[in-house]
Amino acid sequence: MRAVVTADPILRARGVNKSYGALKVLHDVDIDVLPGEALGIVGPNGAGKTTLFGALAGSFPVTSGAISFNGIDLTGTRASDRCQLGIARTHQVPRPFLGMTVFENLLVAAQSGARLDAAAATGRAADVLRRTGLADAANRPAAALGLLDRKRLEVARALATGPKLILLDEIGGGLTESELIALVDLIQSLRSEGLTIVWIEHILHALMRVVTRLICMSEGRILAEGEPRDVMANAEVQRAYLGSSPE
Ligand SMILES: Nc1ncnc2c1ncn2[C@@H]1O[C@H](COP(=O)(O)OP(=O)(O)O)[C@@H](O)[C@H]1O
Ligand SMILES: [Mg+2]
Repeated sequence: MRAVVTADPILRARGVNKSYGALKVLHDVDIDVLPGEALGIVGPNGAGKTTLFGALAGSFPVTSGAISFNGIDLTGTRASDRCQLGIARTHQVPRPFLGMTVFENLLVAAQSGARLDAAAATGRAADVLRRTGLADAANRPAAALGLLDRKRLEVARALATGPKLILLDEIGGGLTESELIALVDLIQSLRSEGLTIVWIEHILHALMRVVTRLICMSEGRILAEGEPRDVMANAEVQRAYLGSSPE
């Protein structure tokens, strides 16, 4: 099964393989992401979802395969190059500078990620604070934030780099129901701004409110792809989830 579509994708990956020593984590993964779409990725723990994000974002070299973004071949480019081209990701374990304020974290992301000068970075940070609902928390140290605001900050740091494509890795974990609704609202608002979103999430009811296409991965392969409800109803997907605990 290949997650390949017919329209011109913003991101295209073909035959991506990634091994750690003898452990093969991604097997010939083909994936297309369409401009402006919200694509979901699900799959049991260890399926290779986070590794796929690392491959797309350039966190490490892949073992083989080709990835292009807006028609530009990314082979040999680093995460910082891809960030400049417009690919941003959040991390499953957030990585803010805990001793810095929210605003300072966004300045750093805008300056180091997008290489903006100080004045442009200040403008970008202010804009991102407004878009993510963090304006009231601007001067608080990241370490003092509650969980929902920490999630918002993780999204905000990615946004501060000025992405066209944002990769969200399990951003919903640990939130209460009302916090999840706030997070879903934030992600929906980014989509309505025209941002392309790929969201790995095990909290299915939150994911299903946002995504229009779904991929299920298992053991480093794409098991099923298509309309979200069809994918979740797929017999192979159901089998892959047996013994694990999707919500
Ligand atoms: N840096 C690494 N070194 C060795 N093995 C890794 C590394 N990163 C991930 N893995 C292994 O790759 C597999 C897929 O992991 P991961 O991509 O994190 O899956 P998922 O995000 O779907 O839970 C797991 O078996 C994991 O232990
Ligand atoms: Mg993961």
